[in-house]
Amino acid sequence: SRIKDVEFVKSSPKAKDCPKDHRPEFAVLGRSNVGKSSLINSLVRKKELALTSKKPGKTQLINHFLVNKKWYLVDLPGYGFAKASEAAKVDWSSFTKGYFLNRDTLVAVLLLIDASVPPQRIDFDCANWLGRNNIPVTFVFTKCDKMKVAKGKIPEENIRDFQEIIKQNYKQHPPWIMTSSVTGLGRDDLLLHVSQLRNY
Ligand code: GTP
Ligand code: MG
Repeated sequence: SRIKDVEFVKSSPKAKDCPKDHRPEFAVLGRSNVGKSSLINSLVRKKELALTSKKPGKTQLINHFLVNKKWYLVDLPGYGFAKASEAAKVDWSSFTKGYFLNRDTLVAVLLLIDASVPPQRIDFDCANWLGRNNIPVTFVFTKCDKMKVAKGKIPEENIRDFQEIIKQNYKQHPPWIMTSSVTGLGRDDLLLHVSQLRNY
């Protein structure tokens, strides 16, 4: 599961514009600010491969990164940013849903969930939508290093609360991994998981 080589391939406005070479791919999805770009950078050990500085809501593109010339990591725009206009929100959902429903080479969605905050409605909605459409999902809990929350719960407790709610909609609980882009927690687990899914 070692990463030897990563290259940015292209940004696509729509599913039909994505690369057509049939390599397997994993989509990184989650709320704006959940840590998608940070996780990708930490996975591939490159500081600025996926831009972490982009304004939320601006990017409406599907970004393909080719790993070891074998499989793709796909960075998607975040959902749920408070400042996006209604029009942008509608756009987000039609374009991303088009991608999820039409992308035959999609092996699984890595759905990022911020473990430093309590369960968020919009994350369940997303998880449930993927479940209903039979799209395999792995929950990747981010920011697990954030132990000092002023008020509220520690990451482990937030994760447990999240999973309690997920149980009601999934017969089988999807795989899940705790990560931190700051400490590197979960990095190797996640790479191993991805390589196992690819080899099914
Ligand atoms: P959008 O592109 O706006 O959708 O955001 P994103 O999901 O790509 O988030 P990004 O990686 O840009 O990170 C958002 C903020 O969270 C940044 O300030 C990061 O430094 C911080 N962050 C990301 N991952 C972690 C983590 O594992 N731990 C901690 N403590 N902070 C993190
Ligand atoms: Mg980002």
